[in-house]
Amino acid sequence: MAFRDLWEFIEAAQAVGDLKLIKGAHWDLEIGCITEIMAEQEGPILLFDAVPGYPEGFRIVTNFLGTPQRFARALGIPPDLPKMEILKAWREKSRAIEFLSPVEVGSGPVTENVVEGEEVDLEKFPAPKWHELDGGRYIGTADMVITRDPTSGWINVGAYRACLQGKNRLSLWVLEHHHGKQIMRRYWEQGRPCPVAVVLGCEPVTWMAAPSAVKAGVSEYEYAGGLRGAPVEVIRAPHTGLPVPAFAEIVLEGEIPPLAEESVLEGPFGEWPGYYTHTGQECVVRVRRIMHRNKPILLGNPPLLPTTLRYGIPLFATRIWDHLESAGISDVRGVWGHCHTLMIVISLKQKYPGHAMQALTATAGLQAGASMYRYVVAVDEDIDPSDLNQVLWAMTTRVDPAESVQILHSWTSDLDPRVPPEKREKGDYTAGRMLIDACRPFTWRDKFAVANRFSAAKRKQIWDKWSAELKKATRS
Ligand SMILES: Cc1cc2nc3c(=O)[nH]c(=O)nc-3n(C[C@H](O)[C@H](O)[C@H](O)COP(=O)(O)O)c2cc1C
Repeated sequence: MAFRDLWEFIEAAQAVGDLKLIKGAHWDLEIGCITEIMAEQEGPILLFDAVPGYPEGFRIVTNFLGTPQRFARALGIPPDLPKMEILKAWREKSRAIEFLSPVEVGSGPVTENVVEGEEVDLEKFPAPKWHELDGGRYIGTADMVITRDPTSGWINVGAYRACLQGKNRLSLWVLEHHHGKQIMRRYWEQGRPCPVAVVLGCEPVTWMAAPSAVKAGVSEYEYAGGLRGAPVEVIRAPHTGLPVPAFAEIVLEGEIPPLAEESVLEGPFGEWPGYYTHTGQECVVRVRRIMHRNKPILLGNPPLLPTTLRYGIPLFATRIWDHLESAGISDVRGVWGHCHTLMIVISLKQKYPGHAMQALTATAGLQAGASMYRYVVAVDEDIDPSDLNQVLWAMTTRVDPAESVQILHSWTSDLDPRVPPEKREKGDYTAGRMLIDACRPFTWRDKFAVANRFSAAKRKQIWDKWSAELKKATRS
């Protein structure tokens, strides 16, 4: 069932006891710090209200997809499955998605409050300062930035961090290779500002489409419709004519002037690898119009330690799995990404000598998004790649570092804190990548010491008989 708006999503979480309402936390670091601690504990969705200095009802929600169960619930996958099975179900679901065009409706609750021109005041929303050294209040950490290609009319939606820069200004940090920046540049080359709409809160599955890699010429709104299993209902925002979700919480409209005309110092910001790295002169949205619902809710998704689960499961792992299959690597049983996919683990049933190393080198060759993964590990099919304890067991007992490890010199990202300053100055974002074959050596695998751990089938048989009794005993 598709959630119509963010509130329906929150109510569904509340119904299963997965919501915590917090009143009185300050926008200046308190909301960010509480979010960090609760996310590290895989705690509930957090709804902040009564932020000091703001009217009750101007709320912020964080930690909204951060456990495998929550992700599964949002996507209509049975939430009680083990997390590797949730990832497999997600892979099946995402392969079968049929793109659905958005549907234009006459009006929607996002128009309940409208301010324009001199009345525009972005500071009316309790945008948090998320981390101690952030260079400002980041109002957009789970936003949807909507632009239209000036020639083809293609509507693009991306997620780019947005920082308050005064009452009617926002900065956006948009990487050059992203479609959003390419569209902006097309307007700027014609000497025109780029019309833009920024959504600051909406139903999370719709939002998930914004940071997804949808190909040029196809709108993320169509992908969002496919993910939800129901088209996104949109209204035409009056200032820009851009389609925006009718059930959004807050929508800003305005223009982005050419960088040469106006730019602002943006950053630093605590980024997803867990450090502050980027600052620079970035583009500005001149905000002309704000629409928002009564009692609006900002969607907040600050980067935390990458060991916390932003989406409950590592979405990128399915991309690697598909890539391995298309590269002809057979018998892959699971793929997982730990530490925000900085470490990739592939579980496979070895079929020939070198099979595991082939899987490792094929993975290392995949260039996609923020793929600055450091370690790629192959494990046998008896290891659940999503279980770090099992992976460590394989790495510490099936690896001979003198034989099982290869190091490549490879690409990394400008967010990689390990790139030395002198390389950074030259724009040389390269670093080593370690491939670890943690499988039993193929040629003598039958002579490898037998594991003393129960087989999955035996564990299930005994657990099915005893689990009810044991759970009772734990409670009493
Ligand atoms: C939470 C989150 C924050 C992001 N922040 C940024 C950002 O600040 N700048 C950026 O260029 N990309 C950012 N991204 C990545 C882009 O949203 C993503 O690559 C998207 O596919 C780009 O869309 P586009 O190519 O249609 O412009 C972020 C992704 C996520 C999940």
